[in-house]
Amino acid sequence: MLRTSRSYPVARVPRRNSLDCGDMKPASASTVSASAGVSPLPAEIDELWVRRGELSPADSTASELVVAAVNKIDSGEARVAWPDPGTAEIVVDERAKRAILLAFRLLPMAESIVGEFRYHDRVPLTSRLDGVRALPGSIVRWGAYIAPGAVLMPSFVNIGAYVDSGTMVDTWATVGSCAQIGKNVHLGGGVGIGGVLEPPNAVPVVVEDEAMVMSRCMVVEGARVRTGAVVGAGTILASSTHVIDVETGEELPRGEVPAWSVCVGGTRQRTFAGGEFGMPCVLVLKRLAEGSKHDKAALNEILRDHGVGT
Ligand SMILES: CC(C)(COP(=O)(O)OP(=O)(O)OC[C@H]1O[C@@H](n2cnc3c(N)ncnc32)[C@H](O)[C@@H]1OP(=O)(O)O)[C@@H](O)C(=O)NCCC(=O)NCCS
Repeated sequence: MLRTSRSYPVARVPRRNSLDCGDMKPASASTVSASAGVSPLPAEIDELWVRRGELSPADSTASELVVAAVNKIDSGEARVAWPDPGTAEIVVDERAKRAILLAFRLLPMAESIVGEFRYHDRVPLTSRLDGVRALPGSIVRWGAYIAPGAVLMPSFVNIGAYVDSGTMVDTWATVGSCAQIGKNVHLGGGVGIGGVLEPPNAVPVVVEDEAMVMSRCMVVEGARVRTGAVVGAGTILASSTHVIDVETGEELPRGEVPAWSVCVGGTRQRTFAGGEFGMPCVLVLKRLAEGSKHDKAALNEILRDHGVGT
């Protein structure tokens, strides 16, 4: 049973529209914004949004408004987006999005206790998560450092790992022993950052500042993701993985994703005695201007700007 020291009223009404993946899948890439006149949420949300920089958890009126709005989303009376039955375009209720983002700013931190469950292990859990937003199901072992401002979705961080500030460890991501994760990194859902405990001189996996390692990637065996790199979903990067720049055909250092690049998993042809086969590799598709964020990082920036980092 999940006990929490703070609870919000949740209206128990049937959902007006299902929000399952099928319904949410865009039938068309384009979206239209449609708050005014369409949103069931009050216009005060937009006013709060305009002065969001001044808001804090001490603003009880604002908090109540936002909690009520998010309750409406929770109950299905409002939703963030839906496919327009006529045009198949995705309609976005910006006000609903704003309510969610405002909630990150307005709601105070709250402690949750997961039942009476006791962990038993040789290595205890860390007790140093001050300033870290850690959801139930996030597990950090003693000996791992998580800097204030990091965000842990239900995930696992093993002993010796270092996770710097502003970094999000997304759902079911694992940060293996001794892996080093820089600042403002996003480890996407299900990402596996390999651990290296033995031999003692083995190089751990390093993911440098501002990198984005997308869903279900595996970065293992001392592989390295350089600053600002975007590693596409499902990419496997081990220390011996070939890395090829598709613009030049050049073979880059193995096991390393270049800074400010966008990479995906690919294949390279290789001839064996038994014939020609495709072997996994990493393809460098694009180069990003140094210091720039990939478009797909925009949502992460919004979440961080509005208080996810505690
Ligand atoms: C890597 C990524 C960021 C590239 O995005 P992008 O720069 O907009 O590039 P595109 O989507 O235009 O893709 C470029 C090419 O790479 C291919 N590609 C994209 N992602 C790929 C992936 N993960 N693996 C293999 N190929 C991929 C595309 O099919 C496309 O090929 P084409 O040019 O022949 O059509 C993106 O595709 C990705 O992997 N996003 C993952 C999102 C995610 O995991 N979020 C975290 C949620 S927790």
